[in-house]
Amino acid sequence: MADIAATRMKSKRGRLDRYIAKTCQHPLRSVKLLLASGQVTVNGVIERDGQRLIHEFDCITCEGRVLQQQTPIYLMLHKPVGVVCATIDRHHKTVLELIDHPRKHELHIVGRLDLNTSGLVLLTNDSRWSRYLTAPESKVPKRYEVMLEKPLTDDYVKAFSDGVYFAYEDLTTAPATLVLTSEYTAEVILTEGKYHQIKRMFGRFRNAVQTLHRSAVGDVELDATLAPGEWRQLAVEELGSPESIAWRSGFLR
Ligand code: URA
Repeated sequence: MADIAATRMKSKRGRLDRYIAKTCQHPLRSVKLLLASGQVTVNGVIERDGQRLIHEFDCITCEGRVLQQQTPIYLMLHKPVGVVCATIDRHHKTVLELIDHPRKHELHIVGRLDLNTSGLVLLTNDSRWSRYLTAPESKVPKRYEVMLEKPLTDDYVKAFSDGVYFAYEDLTTAPATLVLTSEYTAEVILTEGKYHQIKRMFGRFRNAVQTLHRSAVGDVELDATLAPGEWRQLAVEELGSPESIAWRSGFLR
């Protein structure tokens, strides 16, 4: 499945008082007392508002005991052709089998690529980030390099910009950018991810995709030093400019 079939994790958040009640097995009224007496901290600061919404990466203590202290993980992988974007598969190697990380059991895949597509795959345990990257309303651009069977013309550029009608879903694709880079190659930028979208868009011209490679998702570019099958951790600064990181300041929380 293409991008839209991404593992769209539900953002893990909830009220502080309910979280403490559940974790410490206290009735809500005792939690109120603990909060009022300054026994609860969130990210190192005393918190008295039980209705405060907390997220999976907030550090929470109650009566001096750490209840939650989890750090986010962000990885990029250069997916080779022939590896499947799934956690388990009976026939093919999975992207998770390529990751050798001590906390890999926490990770989920952010937006899938087809079996025969190569390139950038992101993995994380941060559901806010993956939700932001995959939610249709975020319109995060994804850049692909594509090689076709037959020569390309300017008609393709117009068709991609106007949108291509998919009868099966009865929809027209959102405006996409197509830049011709040679007679047979192009760069495609999509802001959505329908099933096999790029192959089907070129299919309208009966022009078969020979190779498809994803080179960027939003602000994250595939590291050119990563060989197919290699991965590395992303630094927080690589996730985007502070202005573009709406998800971090509460968007889609
Ligand atoms: N479009 C496709 O056809 N396949 C992909 O893997 C991604 C986009």
